[in-house]
Amino acid sequence: MSIGVKISGTGSYLPDKILTNEDLEKFVDTSDEWITTRTGIKERRIASDTQSTSDLASAAAIDAMSDAGIKSEDVDLIIVATISPDAFFPSTACYVQKNIGAINALCFDVSAACSGFLYAMQIAENFISSGQRKHALIIGAEKLSSMVDWEDRNTCVLFGDGAGAAILSADEENGNRRQILSSVLGSDGRQTDILHVPGGGSACPITPENADQKLNAIRMQGREVYKYAVNAMRKAAENVLDKSGMNVEDVNKLIPHQANLRIIEAITDRMGISSENTFVNLDKYGNTSAAAVAIALDEANKSQAIKDGDIVLLVAFGAGLTWASCLIKW
Ligand code: ACO
Repeated sequence: MSIGVKISGTGSYLPDKILTNEDLEKFVDTSDEWITTRTGIKERRIASDTQSTSDLASAAAIDAMSDAGIKSEDVDLIIVATISPDAFFPSTACYVQKNIGAINALCFDVSAACSGFLYAMQIAENFISSGQRKHALIIGAEKLSSMVDWEDRNTCVLFGDGAGAAILSADEENGNRRQILSSVLGSDGRQTDILHVPGGGSACPITPENADQKLNAIRMQGREVYKYAVNAMRKAAENVLDKSGMNVEDVNKLIPHQANLRIIEAITDRMGISSENTFVNLDKYGNTSAAAVAIALDEANKSQAIKDGDIVLLVAFGAGLTWASCLIKW
């Protein structure tokens, strides 16, 4: 028999340093007007030189454990979704384990770019519903400032640093709250080149020459990504509603990946979801990839933008390509 799973807590951490569009104007050929009208982003957070992705992740984890009312020893699974890990290995999840003292946890990372947090949520749910684990800590965390070419205005204005986390727990009382109703995950490996980091891996190890060409920084074909993002997120959202026998009128809050306001508006217009029912915080943080949906879920929870009994639709899209959606009864 499958065991009920609930989201027993959420958390987030954003670095203190704020980089505004006006700050960017000082060192790259851009303007607040261009960034605001094309993306909706006004500012983003930047981690300090001494903070790594696992530091951001650990702070979000502590916040989520406190919200769930559990101790680090209670956590028996840690999954970190990230494209900016501390190192190729060990996993960032193992660094988090060390930082927070979660000595009883099984730890690994998920690489699914901006969809990673929802991939982690589905994996953790399977571990718990099958009885293998009781309290999973899932985290989306990124230090994208460490992999952006700060001279490339096509990309550097878009991204930011941060971390969001959630605790998924076995629901022994089957309380029917904060429950994942259904999930949809997908990938299309034919489009690996439209959003990627070309250098630094085994296919293209970093040399002094290609480091000069900044091959270890994010490259993106913005227009292509835009088209795929709108289609994939809309389909993923519709599919997860179908799977639960619900329709768009049942959704109280949409929490989409926070990449670009125009992408979000294109999806909500096509689906018929109002701006009041859509959670947006990308103006403050930019695109934090795997962390974005996780941070938004925590802010929506703590600000009471989502309330008990609400139907909450999470949807994301990222490099790979990957997409994911998840329907939750809060
Ligand atoms: N400031 C000023 N001008 C700029 C900037 C900038 N920061 N960046 C590009 N431009 C210029 C371009 O050089 C181009 O100039 P040109 O016409 O003289 O050649 C002009 O603006 C238009 O450029 P486009 O790339 O065609 O602009 P577009 O309207 O497509 O907007 C954007 C670009 C915002 C990147 C858009 O394509 C987009 O949102 N794409 C999706 C990006 C995204 O969401 N990526 C992440 C999703 S997945 C994930 O999160 C990992």
